[in-house]
Amino acid sequence: MCGIFAVVNDFKKNAAQTVLAGLKKLEYRGYDSWGIAVKPFSALTLSIDKHIGKIGEAKTNLPKGGIAIGHTRWATHGGVTDLNAHPHLDCNKKIAVIHNGIVENFHKLKKNLLKQKHQFLSETDTEVIAHLIEHYLSPLKNKKMTKSKRQKALIKAVFNTFNQLIGSNAIGILDLETESIIACRNGSPLVVGFDKKNQQFFLASDVPAFLKYTNQVYFLKDGETVLIDKNGIKLFNTKSGKQKEIFFEQLDWQIEDAEKSGFPHFLIKEIYEQKEVIKKIPLINEKMIKNLTKLINHDYKIILLGCGSAFYCALAGKYLFAKAGIKAEAYGANEFLPFVKFVDNKTLILAISQSGETADTLIAVKAAQKNGAKIAAIINARGSSLERLADIVIPVGAGPEIAVVSTKAFTAQLTILYFLAKACQNQFLLGKNQIKKLVDNLNLWLNPHLSNQLIMLAKTLVNEQHIYVVGKNLNFPASLEFALKIKETSYLHAEAFAAGELKHGVITLIQKNTPCFVLASDDEVKNEILSSAAEIKARGGKIIGIAPFDSPEFDQLIKTPDNDELNIIFNIIVGQLLGYYLGIGRGADPDKPRNLAKSVTVK
Ligand code: F6R
Repeated sequence: MCGIFAVVNDFKKNAAQTVLAGLKKLEYRGYDSWGIAVKPFSALTLSIDKHIGKIGEAKTNLPKGGIAIGHTRWATHGGVTDLNAHPHLDCNKKIAVIHNGIVENFHKLKKNLLKQKHQFLSETDTEVIAHLIEHYLSPLKNKKMTKSKRQKALIKAVFNTFNQLIGSNAIGILDLETESIIACRNGSPLVVGFDKKNQQFFLASDVPAFLKYTNQVYFLKDGETVLIDKNGIKLFNTKSGKQKEIFFEQLDWQIEDAEKSGFPHFLIKEIYEQKEVIKKIPLINEKMIKNLTKLINHDYKIILLGCGSAFYCALAGKYLFAKAGIKAEAYGANEFLPFVKFVDNKTLILAISQSGETADTLIAVKAAQKNGAKIAAIINARGSSLERLADIVIPVGAGPEIAVVSTKAFTAQLTILYFLAKACQNQFLLGKNQIKKLVDNLNLWLNPHLSNQLIMLAKTLVNEQHIYVVGKNLNFPASLEFALKIKETSYLHAEAFAAGELKHGVITLIQKNTPCFVLASDDEVKNEILSSAAEIKARGGKIIGIAPFDSPEFDQLIKTPDNDELNIIFNIIVGQLLGYYLGIGRGADPDKPRNLAKSVTVK
């Protein structure tokens, strides 16, 4: 939610253009508006350019400079207007602020600042940050100061300001006079990149924004602040103000991970990347998996949590564990709090998240942790808040997922849960072999022929108003994920039902030619799901079977390989591809669906 990007010591001496390019890589975090502030070489004031709309095709004529900050916005407080776009300035126009998060106490802070005659130009919560820093600097307003004295005063003012903000926030500040950038983190992600060769620093919400220049990174922790200027970087504890040592780590991410590499969209690239991502799962640290299985098999109450797709993954995990003889519960993290009272120190929470920054998931995990639960987290992004909270972290290793809609991270998380369930049954090797078989099958099946089949199918569905998806047992969460992919990427109303629920009410929705997808596997409920298909067909519904077998109930079949419980991965991939092609056919942007943001850091 909202993308932050900044550069210090831009080696091309054109910081605004570098920030523009970096923001384009972060557009998936919010695309209501964008803005950049630069300290031009040729001027004694900050230059700002900000506009509503997506940044994808944007250009800027901002002057050359060595230091700049920028922002892509997912609106929370204040409508989508040029004035509400970040950066926001103090009254003296010396401090520019960009922000990701929500300042929950901003009304109170703004009221006090208004009393002191601060002039506000926007309706945002962010603007109070600029004025509050100005307020703390005001005793020094007319004093002549060296750069280093101003910097000391400024960082104190930033500490005072940031420590007053309630909520999950990350901020970036560009100070005109000292030509420095200060950034603080509490609950919203921030990472620093250091390009040693060109001696330039980057600040971003996510690594892909600067991966072109460096993979040397430092993920800020909550309660940390960095000060960056042309002399280097300093790290502080925001509460105590004490300086600490900073150590950069090297990521194994490649520049191609943040590029479309010949694909028209990130979404289709990431759908195809699933072959490579899943291939890496059997290589996950065996010791870590075995340690976790010890806990699971040791009388712990197992609770799976996640939001959106991650919740559907949790739900699928519940079925996978049940098959392995392990009782587990699954909740949407945003509906978990009423049940947290049943959590104690014999509870193991399996928290699932691509970003590790989803506010609802973090709230649920923190509440469970407070009651003594152990937290194991299955996370894709690096350096996240969830990673820090968790006792055990299973890295998903899907690489940067840039399309807003989750695909490769989801199927990788699901495969990890399958592996874990198998390991709990002492079938570690069998699990490994089945995943290898899945990869072989994906290599044969996920190809242009399948894509063409789904393009043809999408053409027949493109003008539909509603489509329905049914599945039973493991194919029920698969149906939910299938329908979500269609809704998110094409805005077509797709609704999933447990096949057994149909006859209890929703069968009223079926009319002549209503398209119904039936997700099936060659499993113990095959006949039951085919009976449900027959019930829909008898009411005139048009049945599209997604299965490793054909059946007279199907009007059309999208054939999948057969791969035990892992079959649901193929069924879900059909939903991903169909959503993608329907989205294109219906004029949606597959990488950036309307109103969505990649990482939902607000409640
Ligand atoms: C769906 C999607 C969302 C996320 C959800 C949780 O395509 O991307 O439903 O799954 O917002 O996000 P994470 O996994 O980052 O916690």
